[in-house]
Amino acid sequence: MPTSTVHLIAAARPNFMKVAPLYHALKKEPWCQVKLVHTGQHYDPNMSDAIFRDLGLPDPDFHLGVGSGSHAEQTGGVMIAYEKICLNSDRPDWIIVVGDVNSTAACAMVGTKLLIPVAHLEAGLRSGDRRMPEEINRLVTDAIADLLWTPSPDADENLRREGVPEFRIERVGNIMMDSYELMRSQIAAANAPAAHGVTPGNYGVVTLHRPSNVDDKATLNLLADQLKQAAAKIPLVFAVHPRTRKRLAEFGLLADLERAPGLKLVEPVSYIPFMSLVSSAKLAITDSGGLQEETTYLDIPCLTLRENTERPITVSEGTNRLVEPKNLLENIEKVLAGKWPHGRRPEQWDGKAAQRIVASLRRRTGN
Ligand code: UD1
Repeated sequence: MPTSTVHLIAAARPNFMKVAPLYHALKKEPWCQVKLVHTGQHYDPNMSDAIFRDLGLPDPDFHLGVGSGSHAEQTGGVMIAYEKICLNSDRPDWIIVVGDVNSTAACAMVGTKLLIPVAHLEAGLRSGDRRMPEEINRLVTDAIADLLWTPSPDADENLRREGVPEFRIERVGNIMMDSYELMRSQIAAANAPAAHGVTPGNYGVVTLHRPSNVDDKATLNLLADQLKQAAAKIPLVFAVHPRTRKRLAEFGLLADLERAPGLKLVEPVSYIPFMSLVSSAKLAITDSGGLQEETTYLDIPCLTLRENTERPITVSEGTNRLVEPKNLLENIEKVLAGKWPHGRRPEQWDGKAAQRIVASLRRRTGN
């Protein structure tokens, strides 16, 4: 008979690969009744449903259907809808939030105000850049959550520096690698490069969606221009996020990019085919957080188009480097010349994070 009900909150694409291994692990525990709550922050079939299917996740127990909006609308919408569930239909014993999206901070606030313990998975990451909406979500969530599960020592240090007491911090490692290991054979069998007409080992993968890169016309124009030139050196598969597609169209850049030789624009790709693409790529060009980690795990050069990263271990130990748009080409040439440094896998990025999290939660719930 389960003694603890746990809500696991899923909201947006980068959450799903963090939620899935933990969901599967908690499902096996007799003391735990785990329920999946989808806030609906991401709702397109290829941003949500397909990834749920790939990761073996069932339909959510609760779907809040909040959708897009301004930051306040989205955060407020999630809070209102999730509070109703906790008050009226299903008050859990614990709430687990993951990552740094608006729904993460929203559900953490709902839980702590109702005196329901909240655990944050992927706690302690800091870019130090408060212009980034995710940084605000990280600060808010870590300030109020009862239990902070961190992926790496730098995250522990950030929390200590902010005065978080030791008993709230537990290092569990990086759960993204659990998803990769769970799906490894399916990823290996997917053969996504062929489906996109590229040869394993001879193409780059591109993703871009940060407001700082795509919402400003001059910046996006520069990036589009660099990508066109880069595609003349090595074929690029660019999985275009809905936000980015909208901006490219709005700024009149889309048609030109679609015609550029060597550059293939595709819709967002689900987890298994995407990891199949990444694992055979020569390099990745991105502003994603997760891809910085996955490329470090796979020892693939990652050119991150950002001024800072909340994942510095991917630079100090891995294959990730921060690159200015104007230097993109010269960095690609470095990769093609075989001059990109190799990295190593950080400690506890081993596919066993979910096990450690289950053990931690079991202790904390007294089961
Ligand atoms: C959100 C997260 C970001 C994460 C990213 C991954 C926050 C603050 N940001 O950013 O941390 O890296 O998800 O994708 O939580 N849209 C669709 N279909 C969808 C989802 C969005 O068309 O399924 C469009 C909407 O028009 C929306 C825009 O994309 O306005 C941006 O979506 P939103 O959820 O606001 O933020 P993301 O940029 O996806």
